[in-house]
Order: sequence, then structure tokens, then C-alpha cells
Amino acid sequence: MRRKLVVGNWKMHGNRAANAELLAALLAARPYMADVAVCVPALFLHETAATLAGSDLRWGAQDVSEHEQGAYTGEISAAMLAECGCRYAIVGHSERRAYHGESDALVARKAQAALARGVTPIVCVGETLAERDGGQTEAVVKRQLSAVIHQLTHCAAEMVVAYEPVWAIGTGRTATPEQAQQVHAVLRAQLQAATGRGATMTILYGGSVKADNAATLFAQPDIDGGLIGGASLKAADFIAICRAAT
Ligand code: PGA
Repeated sequence: MRRKLVVGNWKMHGNRAANAELLAALLAARPYMADVAVCVPALFLHETAATLAGSDLRWGAQDVSEHEQGAYTGEISAAMLAECGCRYAIVGHSERRAYHGESDALVARKAQAALARGVTPIVCVGETLAERDGGQTEAVVKRQLSAVIHQLTHCAAEMVVAYEPVWAIGTGRTATPEQAQQVHAVLRAQLQAATGRGATMTILYGGSVKADNAATLFAQPDIDGGLIGGASLKAADFIAICRAAT
């Protein structure tokens, strides 16, 4: 049985006071039946680490540099994330692909840089509405995942995958459990063919997951939890979603 994982993606939200309140609420609501993590803005990683250290809650970053170190102004390396105790780094989020021009190849190199430092990449894949309407969903997500599989080679089974249809992110329009499951099954088959360990790998769903739709999404056979944006900023909502993952 795969254990469920729920990851909050705070995006560019938060401040020290609000974060402290949110993290205190998440700690107080333990235990959870699932693994729970928060991916916070990089500036808040130290404080998050200090607050969550010693608990079973995990933390991570929302991006990572493809480079080890050097003259890359503004970038943050996987080694730095590892030193902050990061368990995860989201890579290839659709907002980074769209607003920062991240290609499949760059996303793959970032995933490799993270893994090389023991930080688990949460690799996001997902189609736009035009791609879905054009019947290209499978081809798009398989192409995005394939780039990472080829880069990671024998380590590919170490990544976490997140299926996030772009049209469902922050829109209030969730994929139906059946739509999500269908893509998850495709991704798992691809992972199985490439690594032989697809059955043990974690595939999250993301895109307008809320307290009231989480349980039906998480009940799908190939959905192992969620990557939660907006609803991860409100303690009551995020806690309810974590509790829906059993
Ligand atoms: P959302 O974001 O839950 O606000 O739709 C999900 C994500 O972008 O990871």
C-alpha cells in the first residue's frame, strides 16, 4: 500500500506572523494518517525548519537551481535546500513553465540537481485547456515526464510526480476524479515501464483541491495525495484535506 502524501504549495504568499500561526495549527492538528509537507517561499525555509524540526511534518522549496553553485544571481542550489532540511523541491510547476520559460529539459535537470543532494523533486506535469480540448493530454504529460525519466535514469523511481492540469490550477475548476485517475493511470504505466517500480511511486493530483473534493480524488486507485495551492493557506482547509488522505 502506498502511503498518501499531502503537500501545501504556498506559492508567493505568507509573512512571518501568518506562517507561524498556520504552522502552529498544522502541528496542533497532528497526528495525520498521511505524510504532510509544506513548500514555502525560500526566505521562510529557515523559520519553517526551526518550527517543524523534530515533528513528522516535512518542508520543502518551490523551485531549485539546475546548477551546483556559482555565478547565478538569484538562484538557490539544492545543497542550500538540503542544508535547510528540505525534504522536497517542487520542479516544473506550470507557473514556472509559463512565466519563467522553463522547458522540459530544464525541469529534468532541476529534478536531477535536487536528487543529487537528497532532496526529492516533486515533478509537475499537466496539459493546458487547449491541449486537453485538442485531445493531446496524454501526449503532453508523457512528453513532460519522459524528459525527467531520461535525465534521472536509474534514480527515476525516487521522484514524486504531480499531475496538475493547468486549467484546474487556481481556477476553482477541478478535474473530475475520473479525469484525474485516467491520467494518473497513464503516468503510472509510463513510470512502471521505465523503472519497474511504478507501483510504489507517489503520484499526486493538484488543481483546485478543496476540503470538499479531496476525499473523492484521493479515493481513486492511482491518486496518492495532493499538491494543494490556495487551500493550503487556510489552516482549517488544509487540515481537512490532510485528514481526507488516509
Ligand atoms: P490550487 O494550486 O490548489 O490553488 O489550484 C495548485 C498548485 O498550483 O499546485
